[in-house]
Amino acid sequence: MTNTDVANIFIPQEVIILKIQEATPYERHFTLQYADGSKMLFEPGQILEVSLFGYGEIPIGIASSPTREHSFDIVVRTVGRVSTAINQLQKGDSLYIRGPYGNGFKLDKLRNHPVLVIAGGIGLCPTRSLIQYILDRRQEFTGFTLFYGTRNPSQQLFSDDLSHWRANDEINFYETVDKADDLWKGHIGVITDLFTKTDISKDTRVVICGPPIMFKFVIHELDKIGINHDNIFVDLERRMKCAIGKCGHCQINNKTVCLDGPVFALSDIIDLEEAL
Ligand code: FES
Repeated sequence: MTNTDVANIFIPQEVIILKIQEATPYERHFTLQYADGSKMLFEPGQILEVSLFGYGEIPIGIASSPTREHSFDIVVRTVGRVSTAINQLQKGDSLYIRGPYGNGFKLDKLRNHPVLVIAGGIGLCPTRSLIQYILDRRQEFTGFTLFYGTRNPSQQLFSDDLSHWRANDEINFYETVDKADDLWKGHIGVITDLFTKTDISKDTRVVICGPPIMFKFVIHELDKIGINHDNIFVDLERRMKCAIGKCGHCQINNKTVCLDGPVFALSDIIDLEEAL
Protein backbone atom coordinates (compact mmCIF):
# COMPACT_ATOMS: atom_id res chain seq x y z
CA MET A 1 0.00 0.00 0.00
CA THR A 2 1.21 3.53 -0.76
CA ASN A 3 0.20 6.75 0.94
CA THR A 4 -2.19 7.61 -1.83
CA ASP A 5 -4.12 4.36 -1.19
CA VAL A 6 -4.96 5.33 2.38
CA ALA A 7 -8.75 5.27 2.60
CA ASN A 8 -9.28 6.82 6.03
CA ILE A 9 -9.25 10.57 5.51
CA PHE A 10 -8.63 11.15 9.22
CA ILE A 11 -5.29 9.31 9.34
CA PRO A 12 -2.34 11.66 8.80
CA GLN A 13 0.71 10.30 6.97
CA GLU A 14 4.26 11.02 8.06
CA VAL A 15 6.44 13.24 5.87
CA ILE A 16 10.10 14.14 6.36
CA ILE A 17 11.45 17.66 6.02
CA LEU A 18 14.12 17.46 3.29
CA LYS A 19 14.92 21.16 3.10
CA ILE A 20 13.98 24.46 4.74
CA GLN A 21 14.48 27.91 3.21
CA GLU A 22 13.80 31.20 4.95
CA ALA A 23 11.39 32.59 2.35
CA THR A 24 10.70 35.94 4.05
CA PRO A 25 11.01 37.20 7.63
CA TYR A 26 7.56 35.64 8.28
CA GLU A 27 7.45 32.55 6.07
CA ARG A 28 9.49 29.34 5.78
CA HIS A 29 9.56 27.23 2.65
CA PHE A 30 9.59 23.47 3.38
CA THR A 31 10.42 20.69 0.94
CA LEU A 32 8.79 17.46 2.12
CA GLN A 33 8.61 13.82 1.14
CA TYR A 34 6.52 10.92 2.41
CA ALA A 35 8.50 8.91 4.97
CA ASP A 36 7.94 5.75 2.91
CA GLY A 37 9.44 7.44 -0.17
CA SER A 38 6.26 7.32 -2.26
CA LYS A 39 5.27 10.19 -4.56
CA MET A 40 2.16 12.20 -3.76
CA LEU A 41 -0.42 12.40 -6.55
CA PHE A 42 -2.07 15.81 -6.71
CA GLU A 43 -3.31 18.64 -8.95
CA PRO A 44 -2.00 22.21 -8.82
CA GLY A 45 -4.25 24.16 -6.45
CA GLN A 46 -5.00 21.32 -4.05
CA ILE A 47 -4.69 21.62 -0.28
CA LEU A 48 -3.01 19.60 2.47
CA GLU A 49 -3.85 19.44 6.16
CA VAL A 50 -0.47 19.71 7.87
CA SER A 51 -0.20 18.64 11.51
CA LEU A 52 2.28 18.53 14.32
CA PHE A 53 1.51 16.27 17.29
CA GLY A 54 0.59 18.22 20.39
CA TYR A 55 -0.16 21.41 18.49
CA GLY A 56 -2.86 20.77 15.88
CA GLU A 57 -3.23 21.05 12.14
CA ILE A 58 -3.60 23.77 9.53
CA PRO A 59 -4.66 23.75 5.86
CA ILE A 60 -1.90 24.74 3.44
CA GLY A 61 -1.87 24.87 -0.36
CA ILE A 62 0.77 22.83 -2.14
CA ALA A 63 3.41 25.18 -3.55
CA SER A 64 5.07 22.93 -6.12
CA SER A 65 3.94 21.16 -9.27
CA PRO A 66 3.24 17.42 -9.61
CA THR A 67 5.41 17.61 -12.74
CA ARG A 68 8.48 18.21 -10.55
CA GLU A 69 10.36 16.16 -7.96
CA HIS A 70 9.25 13.21 -5.86
CA SER A 71 9.12 15.75 -3.04
CA PHE A 72 6.65 18.63 -2.69
CA ASP A 73 6.73 22.12 -1.19
CA ILE A 74 4.67 24.11 1.29
CA VAL A 75 5.17 27.57 2.76
CA VAL A 76 4.20 28.22 6.37
CA ARG A 77 3.53 31.73 7.61
CA THR A 78 4.00 32.23 11.35
CA VAL A 79 0.58 33.39 12.52
CA GLY A 80 -0.55 31.10 15.37
CA ARG A 81 0.35 28.26 17.70
CA VAL A 82 0.56 25.50 15.08
CA SER A 83 2.43 27.46 12.44
CA THR A 84 4.83 28.87 15.05
CA ALA A 85 5.68 25.35 16.20
CA ILE A 86 6.07 24.06 12.63
CA ASN A 87 8.37 26.95 11.81
CA GLN A 88 10.72 25.89 14.62
CA LEU A 89 11.32 22.45 13.10
CA GLN A 90 14.59 21.46 11.48
CA LYS A 91 15.65 19.49 8.41
CA GLY A 92 15.08 15.77 9.06
CA ASP A 93 12.15 16.33 11.46
CA SER A 94 8.72 14.84 10.75
CA LEU A 95 5.39 16.45 9.98
CA TYR A 96 2.07 14.74 9.28
CA ILE A 97 -0.29 15.42 6.41
CA ARG A 98 -3.79 14.52 5.29
CA GLY A 99 -4.91 15.05 1.73
CA PRO A 100 -4.55 16.29 -0.92
CA TYR A 101 -8.04 17.84 -0.90
CA GLY A 102 -10.00 20.14 -3.20
CA ASN A 103 -10.44 20.56 -6.90
CA GLY A 104 -7.34 22.38 -8.15
CA PHE A 105 -6.98 24.99 -10.86
CA LYS A 106 -9.22 23.52 -13.62
CA LEU A 107 -6.38 22.69 -15.99
CA ASP A 108 -8.83 21.40 -18.58
CA LYS A 109 -10.30 24.92 -18.82
CA LEU A 110 -6.87 26.58 -19.08
CA ARG A 111 -5.28 24.38 -21.74
CA ASN A 112 -5.10 25.69 -25.31
CA HIS A 113 -5.64 29.28 -24.13
CA PRO A 114 -3.46 32.15 -22.96
CA VAL A 115 -3.31 32.08 -19.15
CA LEU A 116 -2.91 35.03 -16.79
CA VAL A 117 -2.07 34.25 -13.16
CA ILE A 118 -2.57 37.13 -10.71
CA ALA A 119 -0.97 36.46 -7.33
CA GLY A 120 -0.93 38.82 -4.38
CA GLY A 121 1.33 38.23 -1.38
CA ILE A 122 1.21 34.67 -0.09
CA GLY A 123 -1.19 33.89 -2.97
CA LEU A 124 1.96 33.04 -4.92
CA CYS A 125 2.26 29.79 -2.91
CA PRO A 126 -0.64 27.79 -4.38
CA THR A 127 -0.25 29.49 -7.76
CA ARG A 128 3.46 28.52 -7.87
CA SER A 129 2.20 24.96 -8.32
CA LEU A 130 0.31 26.07 -11.43
CA ILE A 131 3.14 28.30 -12.66
CA GLN A 132 5.62 25.41 -12.51
CA TYR A 133 3.10 23.12 -14.18
CA ILE A 134 2.54 25.52 -17.08
CA LEU A 135 6.27 26.12 -17.54
CA ASP A 136 6.85 22.34 -17.64
CA ARG A 137 4.07 21.87 -20.21
CA ARG A 138 4.26 25.22 -21.93
CA GLN A 139 3.21 23.85 -25.32
CA GLU A 140 -0.26 23.08 -23.87
CA PHE A 141 -0.93 26.80 -23.27
CA THR A 142 -0.95 29.48 -25.97
CA GLY A 143 0.42 32.26 -23.76
CA PHE A 144 1.48 32.74 -20.16
CA THR A 145 1.55 35.93 -18.11
CA LEU A 146 2.11 36.34 -14.37
CA PHE A 147 1.32 39.41 -12.26
CA TYR A 148 2.79 39.33 -8.76
CA GLY A 149 2.33 42.01 -6.14
CA THR A 150 3.52 42.35 -2.55
CA ARG A 151 3.48 45.13 0.01
CA ASN A 152 7.26 45.53 -0.10
CA PRO A 153 10.30 43.72 -1.57
CA SER A 154 11.05 41.82 1.66
CA GLN A 155 7.70 40.03 1.33
CA GLN A 156 8.53 38.57 -2.07
CA LEU A 157 8.55 34.76 -1.95
CA PHE A 158 10.66 32.28 -3.93
CA SER A 159 13.52 34.64 -4.83
CA ASP A 160 15.24 31.96 -6.96
CA ASP A 161 12.06 31.45 -8.98
CA LEU A 162 11.59 35.18 -9.44
CA SER A 163 15.11 35.50 -10.90
CA HIS A 164 14.39 32.60 -13.22
CA TRP A 165 11.01 33.96 -14.34
CA ARG A 166 12.46 37.45 -15.00
CA ALA A 167 14.90 35.89 -17.48
CA ASN A 168 12.57 33.30 -18.99
CA ASP A 169 10.98 33.96 -22.41
CA GLU A 170 8.29 31.35 -21.73
CA ILE A 171 6.57 33.59 -19.18
CA ASN A 172 5.63 37.28 -19.33
CA PHE A 173 6.38 38.19 -15.75
CA TYR A 174 5.41 41.54 -14.22
CA GLU A 175 5.86 42.43 -10.58
CA THR A 176 5.15 45.34 -8.32
CA VAL A 177 5.45 46.41 -4.69
CA ASP A 178 3.26 48.86 -2.83
CA LYS A 179 6.27 50.38 -1.09
CA ALA A 180 9.88 50.12 -2.28
CA ASP A 181 13.16 49.96 -0.41
CA ASP A 182 16.50 51.43 -1.54
CA LEU A 183 17.38 48.34 -3.61
CA TRP A 184 14.09 47.99 -5.50
CA LYS A 185 14.39 48.87 -9.19
CA GLY A 186 10.98 47.62 -10.36
CA HIS A 187 7.48 49.00 -10.49
CA ILE A 188 5.92 50.66 -7.44
CA GLY A 189 2.15 50.62 -7.15
CA VAL A 190 -0.88 48.38 -6.84
CA ILE A 191 -1.16 45.13 -8.79
CA THR A 192 -3.78 46.52 -11.17
CA ASP A 193 -1.10 48.92 -12.52
CA LEU A 194 0.39 45.88 -14.25
CA PHE A 195 -2.53 45.75 -16.68
CA THR A 196 -1.01 48.85 -18.33
CA LYS A 197 2.24 47.01 -19.10
CA THR A 198 0.91 44.32 -21.43
CA ASP A 199 -2.08 43.47 -23.58
CA ILE A 200 -4.40 40.84 -22.13
CA SER A 201 -6.75 39.37 -24.71
CA LYS A 202 -10.43 38.69 -24.17
CA ASP A 203 -9.99 34.92 -24.54
CA THR A 204 -7.45 34.75 -21.68
CA ARG A 205 -8.11 32.32 -18.84
CA VAL A 206 -7.38 34.04 -15.53
CA VAL A 207 -6.45 32.60 -12.13
CA ILE A 208 -6.54 34.90 -9.09
CA CYS A 209 -5.19 34.20 -5.61
CA GLY A 210 -4.45 36.83 -3.01
CA PRO A 211 -5.85 39.00 -0.24
CA PRO A 212 -9.60 39.78 -0.39
CA ILE A 213 -9.01 43.49 -1.07
CA MET A 214 -7.24 42.59 -4.31
CA PHE A 215 -10.11 40.64 -5.89
CA LYS A 216 -12.51 43.53 -6.35
CA PHE A 217 -10.01 45.77 -8.14
CA VAL A 218 -8.58 42.99 -10.30
CA ILE A 219 -12.05 41.85 -11.39
CA HIS A 220 -12.88 45.45 -12.32
CA GLU A 221 -9.88 45.47 -14.71
CA LEU A 222 -10.82 42.09 -16.17
CA ASP A 223 -14.36 43.35 -16.76
CA LYS A 224 -12.94 46.30 -18.70
CA ILE A 225 -11.16 43.83 -21.01
CA GLY A 226 -14.38 41.86 -21.34
CA ILE A 227 -13.22 38.51 -20.00
CA ASN A 228 -16.16 36.19 -19.35
CA HIS A 229 -16.63 35.33 -15.66
CA ASP A 230 -16.76 31.64 -16.62
CA ASN A 231 -13.09 32.01 -17.59
CA ILE A 232 -11.90 33.66 -14.37
CA PHE A 233 -10.96 31.30 -11.55
CA VAL A 234 -10.52 32.40 -7.95
CA ASP A 235 -8.79 30.45 -5.20
CA LEU A 236 -10.59 30.80 -1.85
CA GLU A 237 -8.36 28.44 0.13
CA ARG A 238 -7.84 31.00 2.89
CA ARG A 239 -11.29 30.11 4.24
CA MET A 240 -10.50 26.46 4.97
CA LYS A 241 -9.93 24.69 8.27
CA CYS A 242 -10.77 20.96 8.40
CA ALA A 243 -10.75 20.51 4.59
CA ILE A 244 -13.23 17.62 4.69
CA GLY A 245 -16.62 19.27 5.04
CA LYS A 246 -16.97 18.78 8.82
CA CYS A 247 -16.31 22.09 10.58
CA GLY A 248 -18.42 24.53 8.57
CA HIS A 249 -15.67 27.14 8.72
CA CYS A 250 -15.50 27.51 4.94
CA GLN A 251 -19.22 27.78 4.25
CA ILE A 252 -20.29 30.58 1.85
CA ASN A 253 -24.07 30.42 1.43
CA ASN A 254 -24.68 27.07 -0.31
CA LYS A 255 -21.00 26.49 -1.16
CA THR A 256 -18.57 24.53 1.00
CA VAL A 257 -15.16 25.76 -0.11
CA CYS A 258 -13.28 22.61 0.88
CA LEU A 259 -15.70 20.29 -0.94
CA ASP A 260 -16.80 22.49 -3.87
CA GLY A 261 -13.47 24.39 -4.25
CA PRO A 262 -11.13 25.86 -3.20
CA VAL A 263 -11.02 27.03 -6.84
CA PHE A 264 -14.25 28.48 -8.26
CA ALA A 265 -15.25 30.04 -11.55
CA LEU A 266 -16.06 33.66 -10.76
CA SER A 267 -19.48 33.20 -12.36
CA ASP A 268 -20.35 30.61 -9.66
CA ILE A 269 -19.61 32.84 -6.68
CA ILE A 270 -19.81 36.48 -7.73
CA ASP A 271 -23.37 36.80 -6.44
CA LEU A 272 -22.71 35.09 -3.11
CA GLU A 273 -22.48 37.51 -0.23
CA GLU A 274 -19.08 37.37 1.52
CA ALA A 275 -17.48 35.20 -1.18
CA LEU A 276 -14.94 37.85 -2.21
S1 FES B 1 -12.95 23.58 6.00
FE1 FES B 1 -14.23 22.56 7.41
S2 FES B 1 -16.09 22.35 6.35
FE2 FES B 1 -14.72 23.18 4.87
